[in-house]
Amino acid sequence: MDGNGRWATARGLPRILGHRAGAEAVRRVVEGCCELGIPALTLYAFSWENWRRPSQEIRELMELLVEFLQGELDRLRANEIRLQAIGRLEELPPPVLHQLQAAMAQTEAFHRMTLTLALSYGGRQELVDATRHIARLVQQGRLTPEVIDEQTIAQHLYRPDLPDPDLLIRTSGEQRLSNFLLWQISYCELYVTPTLWPDFTKQTLVEAVAAYQHRQRRFGNTTVSEATNGQSDPAAE
Ligand code: IPE
Ligand code: MG
Repeated sequence: MDGNGRWATARGLPRILGHRAGAEAVRRVVEGCCELGIPALTLYAFSWENWRRPSQEIRELMELLVEFLQGELDRLRANEIRLQAIGRLEELPPPVLHQLQAAMAQTEAFHRMTLTLALSYGGRQELVDATRHIARLVQQGRLTPEVIDEQTIAQHLYRPDLPDPDLLIRTSGEQRLSNFLLWQISYCELYVTPTLWPDFTKQTLVEAVAAYQHRQRRFGNTTVSEATNGQSDPAAE
């Protein structure tokens, strides 16, 4: 979700108002995904590298996050959306962590859609954390290095149950991954839109999904097989 700051600056507003407008876009997109029947949406809300930002912006973003979680809980429940989070959550300020845990606990039984917030998240950090877990199991004699395979690594990511994404949307025209879901996006389709995140609407979402529907997903194979299009096929990788 990129471009909040530029959106605000272009209007002569403080950056936090761009983030607030970005929160409105989140509401629209969550609703849009629900309407389209998309089962999982992961939003890159705060990267591990975002901790480098000025402390005032971090403070304002964290306050906005608490406010958002409080304000959205009823809507998440009404729409049967399960909230979860990935990242080094222990680094979040206690009020954020507390609100997040409450919202996750109160929505954990829902299955219509899974909304995952990536917070204090970095793809490399996730792989470091997974590697530490796996190394500990080897050290304890519960795992031998020879049996480590792709599945072992996938099982030690923050949310092993989260499916690999089919489509990654990057807003504000930036053509980079910025440390997002590095393991999970190996065969993900990328869609870059110049739209700044606060301007992202249900229509922008529909355009991205429509573009995705025209992609040919071969997963390393030479042809698109009916059985594998739309989901990764480990045998073809
Ligand atoms: C993305 O918008 C929101 C967060 C990272 C929280 P930016 O704040 O990166 O906006 P730009 O890139 O300055 O426009
Ligand atoms: Mg940015």
